[in-house]
Amino acid sequence: MHSENNLMSAAAVQMPRIIYGTAWKKQATAELVELALRTGFRGIDTACQPKHYNERGVGDGIAAAKQRGLLTRDQLYLQTKFTPLNGQDPQNIPYDQQADLAEQVRQSFDVSLNNLQTAYLDGLVLHSPLADRQQLMQVWQAMEKLVQAGHVRQLGISNCYDPALFEFLYDAATIKPALIQNRFYADTGYDVALRAFCKQHAVIYQSFWTLTANPAVLADTVLKNLAVQYRRTPAQLLFRYLTQQDMIPLTGTRSISHMQEDLAIFEFHLTESECQQIRCLLE
Ligand SMILES: NC(=O)c1ccc[n+]([C@@H]2O[C@H](COP(=O)([O-])OP(=O)(O)OC[C@H]3O[C@@H](n4cnc5c(N)ncnc54)[C@H](OP(=O)(O)O)[C@@H]3O)[C@@H](O)[C@H]2O)c1
Repeated sequence: MHSENNLMSAAAVQMPRIIYGTAWKKQATAELVELALRTGFRGIDTACQPKHYNERGVGDGIAAAKQRGLLTRDQLYLQTKFTPLNGQDPQNIPYDQQADLAEQVRQSFDVSLNNLQTAYLDGLVLHSPLADRQQLMQVWQAMEKLVQAGHVRQLGISNCYDPALFEFLYDAATIKPALIQNRFYADTGYDVALRAFCKQHAVIYQSFWTLTANPAVLADTVLKNLAVQYRRTPAQLLFRYLTQQDMIPLTGTRSISHMQEDLAIFEFHLTESECQQIRCLLE
């Protein structure tokens, strides 16, 4: 069951159609997360990766918003990531790097629960595939155990651009990936083949770099003309298009007016022929 502002995943988890991303915010993280929640975001993406994310700050921002009575835990979609060793700062690894992969997942998960001050996660995402398929499945099976124990509601993978590898994971997994989170840009052909597989198997595609990697798309006359017609910005048009394709864009804006604009995309609806014009820019 999909509602205007939510998508139901194959794991029966309601996900907001646009999610606030928390990378690179350092000391400003708690304040920005609270601002995002106050502005109306109900989905938060983070990672147990101190190199790029202040996960503790995310937890503090959510706690502050809950304390102000802005929302309850069950009104929030909260996802974090397990980041394999090669994505961590060697000086600041949030688990024992000597431990086996399954134990690394468990330790990282415990750190996340503590940072986020929560008893469960709505989504746990593998930040990137591991070097070989056997290692990938070791990590995935450790993540599956967290779902089976009732600590995590759904699983996903990120930075997985090879359709064959994603299909392998999908087939081999007992608990199938409910989402994939990828860079959305021309270098990967906008993941057209991968997205077709996702659509067929009800896997939700989350996009990042959506604005930063697509200046030419945002400057194209198609988006510019539609922006004038709808009295919106090209960024709003692109985000709206993606949500109408049942994709979930991540936005990490620090600006309250951009937060408001990002949430206001649900106030208008593109026609199928307008969507087709935008689709032609993204293939
Ligand atoms: N899985 C991964 O490996 C991975 C990698 C990168 C990111 N992510 C996730 O994705 C999130 C988003 O990251 P991103 O790389 O897509 O970029 P971003 O952090 O969302 O940056 C977007 C940029 O666009 C600008 N902007 C202009 N108009 C905007 C509008 N209407 N709405 C939003 N931003 C607007 C923002 O500036 P202002 O701040 O001035 O608005 C900002 O400079 C991250 O926080 C993280 O959660 C995941």
